[in-house]
Amino acid sequence: MAFLYRRSMNLKTVTFLLVSMSFLALCLFLLQEPRSQQEEKGKNSTDVPMANTQPLALKSGTPCVANASVNSVANFEQLPARIQDFLLYRHCRQFPLLWDAPSKCVGRHAVFLLLAVKSSPENYERRELIRRTWGQERSYRGQQVRRLFLLGTPEPQVAARAPQLAELVGLEAREHGDVLQWAFVDTFLNLTLKHVHLLDWLAARCPRVRFLLSCDDDVFVHTTNVLSFLEAQSPDGHLFTGQLMRGSVPIRDSWSKYFVPPQLFPGEVYPAYCSGGGFLLSSHTVQVLRTAANHTPLFPIDDAYVGMCLEQAHLEPSSHEGIRVYGVQLPGAQKPSFDPCLYRELLVVHRFAPYEMLLMWKALHSPTLSCKTASVPKPLLV
Ligand SMILES: *[C@@H]1O[C@H](CO)[C@@H](O)[C@H](O)[C@H]1NC(C)=O
Ligand SMILES: *[C@@H]1O[C@H](CO)[C@@H](O)[C@H](O)[C@H]1NC(C)=O
Ligand SMILES: *[C@@H]1O[C@H](CO)[C@@H](O)[C@H](O)[C@H]1NC(C)=O
Repeated sequence: MAFLYRRSMNLKTVTFLLVSMSFLALCLFLLQEPRSQQEEKGKNSTDVPMANTQPLALKSGTPCVANASVNSVANFEQLPARIQDFLLYRHCRQFPLLWDAPSKCVGRHAVFLLLAVKSSPENYERRELIRRTWGQERSYRGQQVRRLFLLGTPEPQVAARAPQLAELVGLEAREHGDVLQWAFVDTFLNLTLKHVHLLDWLAARCPRVRFLLSCDDDVFVHTTNVLSFLEAQSPDGHLFTGQLMRGSVPIRDSWSKYFVPPQLFPGEVYPAYCSGGGFLLSSHTVQVLRTAANHTPLFPIDDAYVGMCLEQAHLEPSSHEGIRVYGVQLPGAQKPSFDPCLYRELLVVHRFAPYEMLLMWKALHSPTLSCKTASVPKPLLV
């Protein structure tokens, strides 16, 4: 009998809970209605409210037209189609924002570190894992960390999925408020546009940010190590550090992804730069780079382009031992090592699959992690 009594009590409780929950859901739904309508109105009207804290979908501007004089470039017709395309649109530097994150840097405390991750619409899993691991937006010892993904629009190869990808990006932008998407095609040769647009965006939306990490979406970042390093730096001084590339030469094989014909870069050697896999810079350097970029014609290799801007500004990039774009490999090993102990002292390591990011993050934060040797092998250049 006692058992039955308990059960009927439980049924009553459950019914009560169900009714209350439906009521709550109804209230939430009713409260939600005007907000989403407001959002629609915001999208429709041309003047965007300044204090809007919701991510915005914007579309404006006249499309940039192709440069009709590029045919005067020597042997233009012989250049690969993608290089011809680059030359045709090289002067187009301002594309409309499709998704903005206007409240990213709003708040009483200035953002200490902004993680600016170059991603592309179809790399959803990578973004999701970054959000769950090293890209968490939170305060570390009082230092605010914020995250942004920099996207273009889907490439023609994935055109069939373009409507779905647009919906997905919108979903992420609304849910996480961490998406900047511009109306240019997300191709390798257009990566430079992400840097140029980000510099303008920072000046408008995030002028007080102290430091920036610019990186790819397939790197692993040891966030607390990055913060420890930055805490000893001044945001008002010059800082530009990463895996230093000095004496890099332009690739002249037209089948290569990195192909650059002499028509685009007649020189023998690129100015020193840091690999685009991941580099750190100060607020001061961000501002100087923005001015320099305005005086530097676009170049299709994004990290080399940033090096050209540094040169234009008479600034030097520096090398950081803890930023390893070639991964970490023990001497004599066939594959990059996955031993968490090797990653304890590093800042940024290329390249990680999404599941590896999760495993490494967990391993590094495991209280049972015990490491014998303290030293990380010297970078192995390939
Ligand atoms: C949006 O604009 C269209 C055309 O300008 C207009 O017909 C429509 O009523 C507007 N919708 C809202 C929600 O303001
Ligand atoms: C168009 O291309 C020609 C040849 O490369 C170049 O000299 C000119 O500056 C370009 N025009 C613009 C608007 O960029
Ligand atoms: C860069 O993006 C623009 C705008 O979408 C596009 O017209 C152009 O073809 C792209 N350039 C390259 C080299 O992919």
